[in-house]
Amino acid sequence: MPSRRVLVLHAHPAPHKSRVNRRLVAEAEGVDGVTVRHLYEIYPDFLIDVREEQRILESHDAIVFQHPFYWYSAPSLVKEWMDLVLEHGWAYGSGGTALHGRIFAQAVTCGGGRDVYCSEGRNRHSVRDFLLPFEQSALLCGMDWRPPFVVHGTGDLKSAGEIEPFALDYRTWLESLRDGDGRSQETR
Ligand SMILES: Cc1cc2nc3c(=O)[nH]c(=O)nc-3n(C[C@H](O)[C@H](O)[C@H](O)COP(=O)(O)O)c2cc1C
Repeated sequence: MPSRRVLVLHAHPAPHKSRVNRRLVAEAEGVDGVTVRHLYEIYPDFLIDVREEQRILESHDAIVFQHPFYWYSAPSLVKEWMDLVLEHGWAYGSGGTALHGRIFAQAVTCGGGRDVYCSEGRNRHSVRDFLLPFEQSALLCGMDWRPPFVVHGTGDLKSAGEIEPFALDYRTWLESLRDGDGRSQETR
């Protein structure tokens, strides 16, 4: 199977405070065929260059949003990006076929452990359930949705050594999006 060009759109509002996404995104930057864009660095004022984003999307085969889980969703710049970049007539609707067939996936880190993200747990739903609006948006745009890469319980990852296995899993997951079916999902 031909190698896909993978685009990672990294969105962390406070990268200087980040431990987990910082390590994951550094790993992504070292994977052949992966382009990383740091959305909060590029658009600190939220003034998104829609044409530029669309041009970059068109030159990649798989799109990944990488972000911390904030209020059961993504940081707000991701929503702004979706509102502006996924235009009618380009991403969906009449003539909106630019993203058809491209893979969509998310890489999410969350403070809550796996035990709170289940029907019996405090949050009552899995992280994947909470990501449903992203999944359905991707489907509306004719994209090929893949299950998310999820790191649970970030508060329990006390040392760099404890984060390391997740970085290696993330590399494997990105390589699978690039070369394989990208169907592996939640991590340890
Ligand atoms: C504003 C805000 C909202 C958050 N909302 C959630 C949440 O809904 N669920 C959750 O599990 N963790 C939540 N967290 C915890 C973050 O997801 C966690 O700190 C982050 O994934 C750790 O990654 P980092 O080291 O890259 O910052 C929230 C954190 C902040 C600052």
